[in-house]
Amino acid sequence: MKLSVFCGVSVDGFLARPDDSVDFLDTGEHVPHGYEEFIKSVDVVVIGRKTYEFVVRYGSWVYGKKPVVVLSTRHLDFSWIKNGVVERRSGDPAEIVKLLQARGCKHAYIDGGVTIQRFLAAKLIDRMVVTRVPVLIGQGVPLFGPLLHDIKLKHVATRTYSGGLVQSEYGFNYVAGPARRRSVRKERKERTKTAKALTRSPTYA
Ligand SMILES: NC(=O)c1ccc[n+]([C@@H]2O[C@H](COP(=O)([O-])OP(=O)(O)OC[C@H]3O[C@@H](n4cnc5c(N)ncnc54)[C@H](OP(=O)(O)O)[C@@H]3O)[C@@H](O)[C@H]2O)c1
Repeated sequence: MKLSVFCGVSVDGFLARPDDSVDFLDTGEHVPHGYEEFIKSVDVVVIGRKTYEFVVRYGSWVYGKKPVVVLSTRHLDFSWIKNGVVERRSGDPAEIVKLLQARGCKHAYIDGGVTIQRFLAAKLIDRMVVTRVPVLIGQGVPLFGPLLHDIKLKHVATRTYSGGLVQSEYGFNYVAGPARRRSVRKERKERTKTAKALTRSPTYA
């Protein structure tokens, strides 16, 4: 079974603003950039609870009859979804994949920042297509997060679209190499130190 990520981010790597709005993804030029073909190619969509809540606010079920698994440890009310195929699941990403595989799924679309990060950490993502929108938003919901090991990527292709969209496609190379193991706590400390130094810097304003 293949697992793919297909998402849009600001150039500084955010999927959404802190209030979950995604207005910055709209360049005003609605050029096709492969999403339609991609969504047709998947037979199940796996999203995190916060992405689901974004869809709820959107007010209509955007996935049609495509089976959707919403990952959450909480109870969710799907009664408003008419004609959709949706269920809640929770647990280890590898177990979720096993379950989908047992159902005969061949290609899953993994979506939502934390969700993608958990599947990446479990070395389960096979393909990642990230479309960068030419804007910096400074803060928001990050696509990526801290890692215990480097994850090597295989660049497959980079495409550009009008409106300044730059789309890069990657495969993964999870074979163990001389990966740099690092402590997440140490990395956080280093980031805080860097942020403090930047705040003190006279050029930071
Ligand atoms: N730009 C784009 O292309 C794009 C794409 C997707 C999403 N977004 C945006 O990104 C934001 C959402 O991303 P996010 O990082 O905040 O969150 P997310 O990944 O959508 O959801 C995180 C939540 O999913 C649940 N979860 C994830 N993995 C789980 C597992 N294995 N078992 C049980 N529960 C699991 C947990 O919910 P509980 O706390 O309920 O347990 C967790 O808090 C939204 O603003 C959305 O609009 C943008």
